[in-house]
Amino acid sequence: MQPNSDETSVVFGVQTDVPPLVKGTTAQKREHDKKLGGGTMSGSGVTCPCCRTIMKMEDLRLAGQNGRLGTVLTAVIVDGEHGKEYRLPTAEEILMATEAEKELSRVFAEIPFGLPEEPLPSKEALGFRVPLYGFDKWYKLFTPRQLLALGTFVKYTRAVCDVMQKEGYSQEWIEAVAAYLAGGIDKLTDYIASLCTWHVTGEKMSHVFVRFALPVNWDYAELNPLSNSSGNYWACMDWVSRVIEDNIQATQKSLEPHVLQQSAIVEYGQGQVDVIVTDPPYYDAIPYSDLMDFFYVWLRRSLFGLSSTIDTVFHEPLSPKWDNEHNDGELIDDSSRFSGDKAKSKAVYEDGMFRAFQACHKSLSPDGSLVIVFAHKHPDAWETLVSAIIRAGFVVDASWPIQTEMGNRTRALSSAALSSSIWLVCKKRPETAKPGWDNQVLQEMQAKITQRLHDFWDAGIRGPDFVWAATGPALEAYSEHPIVKKSNEPGKILSVSEFLRHVRRMVVDFVVGRVLSHNGGTDAVSGLDDVTTYYLLHRYDFGLDSAPIGPCILYAVSCGLSDAALTSRYDLLARTGGQTPVEEEAVARSAEEGEAEEQEEGTSSTVKLKQWYQRKNPSMGYETLVGPPAPLIDQVHRLMHLWKAGDVTKVDDYLYTKGLGHNALFHQLLQALIELAPAGSEERALLESISNHVAARGVMPAYRLGLME
Ligand SMILES: C[S@@+](CC[C@H](N)C(=O)[O-])C[C@H]1O[C@@H](n2cnc3c(N)ncnc32)[C@H](O)[C@@H]1O
Repeated sequence: MQPNSDETSVVFGVQTDVPPLVKGTTAQKREHDKKLGGGTMSGSGVTCPCCRTIMKMEDLRLAGQNGRLGTVLTAVIVDGEHGKEYRLPTAEEILMATEAEKELSRVFAEIPFGLPEEPLPSKEALGFRVPLYGFDKWYKLFTPRQLLALGTFVKYTRAVCDVMQKEGYSQEWIEAVAAYLAGGIDKLTDYIASLCTWHVTGEKMSHVFVRFALPVNWDYAELNPLSNSSGNYWACMDWVSRVIEDNIQATQKSLEPHVLQQSAIVEYGQGQVDVIVTDPPYYDAIPYSDLMDFFYVWLRRSLFGLSSTIDTVFHEPLSPKWDNEHNDGELIDDSSRFSGDKAKSKAVYEDGMFRAFQACHKSLSPDGSLVIVFAHKHPDAWETLVSAIIRAGFVVDASWPIQTEMGNRTRALSSAALSSSIWLVCKKRPETAKPGWDNQVLQEMQAKITQRLHDFWDAGIRGPDFVWAATGPALEAYSEHPIVKKSNEPGKILSVSEFLRHVRRMVVDFVVGRVLSHNGGTDAVSGLDDVTTYYLLHRYDFGLDSAPIGPCILYAVSCGLSDAALTSRYDLLARTGGQTPVEEEAVARSAEEGEAEEQEEGTSSTVKLKQWYQRKNPSMGYETLVGPPAPLIDQVHRLMHLWKAGDVTKVDDYLYTKGLGHNALFHQLLQALIELAPAGSEERALLESISNHVAARGVMPAYRLGLME
């Protein structure tokens, strides 16, 4: 794209001799492609290719809201002799892209509810960027040509039912076939919408739901649904039929299900249900009902009128939202549903979840089990939900980290196992259960989980999964009681958070014991300071590579720290952004959208341990007069700086002052760090030299220590 000769407009061309960057890191290649692709969008707005003026995002949004955003067909991609070929559109193709509009009213007049004019959620809704730019009705997310295609598919899907009826098929068959075909149309909407991008490296269509959000998209690709390209109508039908085949096989021996269409806040079964397995909504993680409307509006048009049951299901124009009047509906912590009141939104969500757990309690038989799936998220929010489960009358007795997401999501997670969800297994607490006392409960917990920790470790469970796996069995001791009182503080109660703090500390001490003893020891380590404990956990799992923030927060909390303190106060962690492969596509997309500055905090964050030489704070390894002793890891890093500087006297003085020669943990830590450092690295060489030096000097005489102190 370049300005025309008098710089009043732009002209498009297709460049065929673009040199690729063959060598370099992914980031460098992306940077290279970004430069080549250029474009006009950036975080600050859009730059005019003629006068270089920048139009800000706010102006763009205003233009969108006033209906002043347009489209232009820039290129056509076809299958050529040697793969995909890119060329300029012909005059006819440009005409055809707009002609479809004339046909829309005719096609949609034959479909129940016509064009999908149902409103999108407000621009404050979670994950919805498009309303900011004036996309306020669902049909606006599709071009006229896409709408014409979808309307035509809906029309003929409905016609299939008439033909089947004439041919004498049973109502059951007609409904089943129609439902499968409608599923295929929904799949197709994910591939033909103006939010679809072109997957540049794969040279194929990408789809709308790359993540659970609807961000704005400035360059979209439009697929011919009747072509053979990925995402075409038949490919979508193929996906649906494969899912159906799998499901049929998986449920071959199952009884016919009885499907209830009701809120989980309402109890069911009068205490006769054997098992409840639930994957509940998690705070503000995913705006399910808003996102599902993208599909719902098309399903409704494809299926309405087929039977009274179907008509009941699709009675409302959009899927169920939170209903303030009835205090029921979709459970989600989305403040846009409460006029921006964040505290109210959180409280209503947590109360709703508690009532849903209470309903489960009432529905279950005395021996029944409740299995709850939780995503990994911030431990504090998780603890609130666990408290609600216990308050609702359950004993939590197991927790299993299970990999429930598709393979590519785990590629990002380095060598440390990190399952995508935790499954909590709960039983009903006997009515006769009495309040417990904190000291007894903690003792019981320690006795209970010591053996389990060994079992989990021997079974190969590692990393954050290990912490999560131990949490359930430990909670059993706590949740056996309706409440746990503090023996030394009359009237006070030991909260779930406080209890779990003890559990996690015990678990991480166990892990650090393994690391310090090179996996051979049997004892948990005690007495190691929090920061060094964190360092070892992190280093053992992720080395010095970027690590996803989730497990790091869990480890930090387990050590009584926070990721923020480790970054700023202790100067141990550095933020590295969203560079794990799983986030790459989303990051690339948001960069293209020019929306990078508005990315949700935390979703794609990664952190890295700082190398010893990057820790340059002059006070590192020295304590202040009133503060706690310097973390042992800081002392080791200080020693490395001193050693590297080559002044042995200073090294010895430091060793004497800190009494490190006498400190068994210091020797263990030094050894563990040598093992963890890459062979041949400077870090390893320095640590080995220090270790040899300390060994050669032997244990420092106590009087010397006394003198120095
Ligand atoms: C974590 S998702 C379940 C995802 C599902 N396991 C899957 O793999 O597709 C939570 C679901 O709970 C639904 N939900 C929210 N509030 C509800 C309520 N009051 N009753 C029943 N379901 C509700 C959400 O709409 C969402 O579909």
